[in-house]
Amino acid sequence: MLREPVVLYLFSGSGNTHAVAGRVVKTLLEEGIAAQLRPLERSDPGYTIPAGTVGLAFPVALFSTYPFVWEFAENLAPGRGKGIFMVDTLAGFSGGVVGPMKRVVSARGYHPVGAVEIRMPSNYARTEQEGPKDDRLRRRGLKKAAAFARNLVAGRTSWRSIPLLPELIKRLGRSPQGRAWAALRGKYPLSVDVEKCARCGLCAEVCPVSNITMEAFPRFGEGCLFCQRCVSLCPREAIGVKGRPFVPYRGSPRREMLELAGVSLDYYQY
Ligand SMILES: Cc1cc2nc3c(=O)[nH]c(=O)nc-3n(C[C@H](O)[C@H](O)[C@H](O)COP(=O)(O)O)c2cc1C
Ligand code: SF4
Ligand code: SF4
Repeated sequence: MLREPVVLYLFSGSGNTHAVAGRVVKTLLEEGIAAQLRPLERSDPGYTIPAGTVGLAFPVALFSTYPFVWEFAENLAPGRGKGIFMVDTLAGFSGGVVGPMKRVVSARGYHPVGAVEIRMPSNYARTEQEGPKDDRLRRRGLKKAAAFARNLVAGRTSWRSIPLLPELIKRLGRSPQGRAWAALRGKYPLSVDVEKCARCGLCAEVCPVSNITMEAFPRFGEGCLFCQRCVSLCPREAIGVKGRPFVPYRGSPRREMLELAGVSLDYYQY
């Protein structure tokens, strides 16, 4: 039986995980379970609720997930047997997250009650505008999220894990200074089109790793994880990769993403 309340910590770069985690919480509420979303990147993992169930929701990246998501899980307050579940969204294949995450949360003293991976449209290096195929994927993804939530309530979920290979895959991207991230930064360095930029500062406010400094225009540091947040949320679509025809992707309405991230809606006017 799922113990109440459920607090689902969520990170979403471009809105897919936001939509899926929102559907999980909505379904739990419909099932009579007290549940709420919290922004993972703005929460202190050391202060989780004393009772109830914890959830973690995040995107797959480099076949695993972002280093700051791992850091959050590794620093969760001692679980003392509390239930925990995870939801990830992905475009195709992960491999280095479900089992390794189970080991991390178990080591923190949590009882893993369920895990699900949900396929959604890709937000990575997109060159095509959104279309009907994306809508279909999103609809299916949301259905799967609702079914997972109902199964959580009924105690019908599980969290499987296999040893060895997933841990090796996880290791590839675990360090933000690692080679894999450095290669991505070298290949797709983000920059701002100063002709389009309104200098609102939103991108600096929402970057989960504080990689953007607001000077006359936003300046990017050396720590980008290519999570797409600044690209997706920029009101002027001013952030991109020079010389590449990438288009920003949004899996949730911008306003809802800003609200959850605790960012002032004043930015919405730009
Ligand atoms: C840097 C980066 C790496 C990604 N790596 C993978 C991957 O290894 N496997 C995969 O299936 N999807 C990958 N994706 C796609 C995302 O996991 C997928 O689109 C996800 O739903 C995005 O969630 P979000 O909108 O909440 O950020 C990657 C996306 C980005 C931006
Ligand atoms: S969010 Fe966009 S418009 Fe605002 S400062 Fe950043 S790049 Fe400029
Ligand atoms: S600068 Fe990089 S890490 Fe920061 S929000 Fe933009 S894409 Fe994400």
